[in-house]
Amino acid sequence: MFHPILNQAHAWIERMLRPGDLAVDATVGNGRDTAILAERVGPKGLVIGFDLQQDALDAAAARLTSPGTADRVILVRTGHEGMAGVVAREAPGRRPKAVMFNLGYRPGGDRAFATRAATTIPALESALELTTPGGIVTVVCYPGHAGGQDEQDAVLAWARALPSPRATVVLYQFWNAVRAPCLLAITPK
Ligand SMILES: C[S@@+](CC[C@H](N)C(=O)[O-])C[C@H]1O[C@@H](n2cnc3c(N)ncnc32)[C@H](O)[C@@H]1O
Repeated sequence: MFHPILNQAHAWIERMLRPGDLAVDATVGNGRDTAILAERVGPKGLVIGFDLQQDALDAAAARLTSPGTADRVILVRTGHEGMAGVVAREAPGRRPKAVMFNLGYRPGGDRAFATRAATTIPALESALELTTPGGIVTVVCYPGHAGGQDEQDAVLAWARALPSPRATVVLYQFWNAVRAPCLLAITPK
């Protein structure tokens, strides 16, 4: 009945996206989310993915094996805090229907590249501005690694302060699990 956190994020995203949509993966990592987004937007859609690490982008590119998916994904080696400029350049005049953030560090990768509140919060602001009204921004936070709790606290405080006329905010978490990750879903109005 209750999906694990990431599966729940995928379920909401998949329900939202239609063929031809623009989607953003704000934290590409190993590319699992990127591949799911690319399947969902179909041949006429576009996915823009951000990561700071070239090996993450390479791993993600290698995962795009399903026919045609590599052609509809643009992987950018830059911070997601630069999202607005990249979307304007790569998809002029278009707005994403869905933006995914899967925070923390890349499994198997360098933890020095973990996401941090100082850049995550501006990126979330950008995502909220860019996303079409009625679209979705999902954020998975992991409090269990160094800096993760601080980042989660900052993200939750930011989300709680969003005025309700601007966005609907839902928090999904296994409440009685220790250091459990949490999932935010934000729908701009
Ligand atoms: C938990 S991983 C993402 C997992 C990924 N979505 C997947 O499906 O495998 C987080 C990623 O965020 C990246 N990252 C850290 N800071 C970033 C930033 N400012 N902009 C974009 N990506 C960043 C890290 O390099 C890391 O690869």
